[in-house]
Amino acid sequence: MSAVSAAFLSTPPCAELHLHIEGTLEPAMVLALAEKHGITPAAPDVDAFAALYDFTDLSHFLSLYYANTDVLRDAEDFADLTRAYLRRAADGGVMHAEIMFDPQAHLGRGIPLAAVVEGIAAGLAGGERELGVTTGLIAAFLRDRPAAEADAVLTELLDLEAPLLGIGLDSAEVGYPPVLFRDLFARAASLGLHRVAHAGEEGPPEYVTGALDLLGAERIDHGIRSVEDSRLVVRLAEQRVPLTVCPLSNVRLRAVDSLAAHPLVEMMRRGLVVTVNSDDPAYFGGYVDDNYAALAAQFGLARDDLATLALNSVEASFASPDRKSAMRAVVEEWRTAQV
Ligand code: ADE
Ligand code: ZN
Repeated sequence: MSAVSAAFLSTPPCAELHLHIEGTLEPAMVLALAEKHGITPAAPDVDAFAALYDFTDLSHFLSLYYANTDVLRDAEDFADLTRAYLRRAADGGVMHAEIMFDPQAHLGRGIPLAAVVEGIAAGLAGGERELGVTTGLIAAFLRDRPAAEADAVLTELLDLEAPLLGIGLDSAEVGYPPVLFRDLFARAASLGLHRVAHAGEEGPPEYVTGALDLLGAERIDHGIRSVEDSRLVVRLAEQRVPLTVCPLSNVRLRAVDSLAAHPLVEMMRRGLVVTVNSDDPAYFGGYVDDNYAALAAQFGLARDDLATLALNSVEASFASPDRKSAMRAVVEEWRTAQV
C-alpha cells in the first residue's frame, strides 16, 4: 500500500497482530475446497454457513472452526488461504501482519506439517512481494491438548526450519491455565522466539498475570477481562504490555453483551496499549478495518483516537525499528490528511 493511498482510507493503516489464518477460511472457500477434495462440507451453501455461525460461546465456535479446517489438505490450499487473507487485509490498510496458525489442528487430521508450513510460507512471501505487506508467522499451540504434544510439534517445526517469528497459545481457555505451558515457553525463549498468549478472553484476570509471570508473554491476546483487576490494569499500563483486542470477535463469542458494552474505550482511558484486530474474520463479521469502523461508529471515535490505536499496533508489533518508523509515518499521514 502506498503512503498516498493510505491517507484516503476511512480507517487507519495499521498492523494486524491477532489473526488466525484458519479463521480467514470464508464459507465460499470451504465450499470450493470441499469440492476440490471430494469432501462433504458442514453446510451446503454460503447462506447455510451464515446460519450456523450464531455462536453461543468460544467452544461452540471452535467446534465449527476445527470442522471447517478439514477442507485444508495440501500446500496449495494453505497458500491460497494466506494470499486471500493478505489481499483483503491490504485493501483494508494492513501494512504488517503477524499471523497465527494451529499446527496441531492439521497434524491431528493427518496433514503433514511440511505441507502446512510450505503453503503458508509461500503465501506470506507472495504477499510481501506483491502487496508490500510485511509479515511474521506465529505457531499457536492448543492449550486444551497436552503440553508434551506442543513440545514435540515445536521440535518438528524447528526440524522443518519453519520461518517462525514466535509461539502463541490458543483454543479453549477456561480450565487450561498458563502454568501448564511454562516449560514450552521457556524453551521458546531460549530459542529466541517471541512469545504471545491468549488470556483473559473467557478466562479470569489471573490467566493474564500467569501469562506474564509464568510464560514471559510479550503481548496478551484479548486480555479484556484484565479490567476486572485494577492492580493488573496498572501493571499492564506501566509495563506497556500490548493487548490485541478483537471487538467483533468478543461480541460474536458473547464475551461481552454487545459492542456498546465492550471495554475497549475504558481500556484506552486507563492507559493500556490497546490494539484492534480481527481474530477470525471469516466467522465474526469483519476484517480489521471493519473492527475499526464498528468501534468508530459505536463510540464516536475521532480520527486521532483511531490513529492512536493504529500507532499502538505498530509499537506492539515485532517489526524492525526501520519498518516501525516507516509505518508510523504512514499512520501520521493518515491522521493529518484533509478529508
Ligand atoms: N482459535 C481461533 N480463534 C480463537 C479465539 N478467539 N480464542 C481462542 N482460540 C482461538
Ligand atoms: Zn484468537
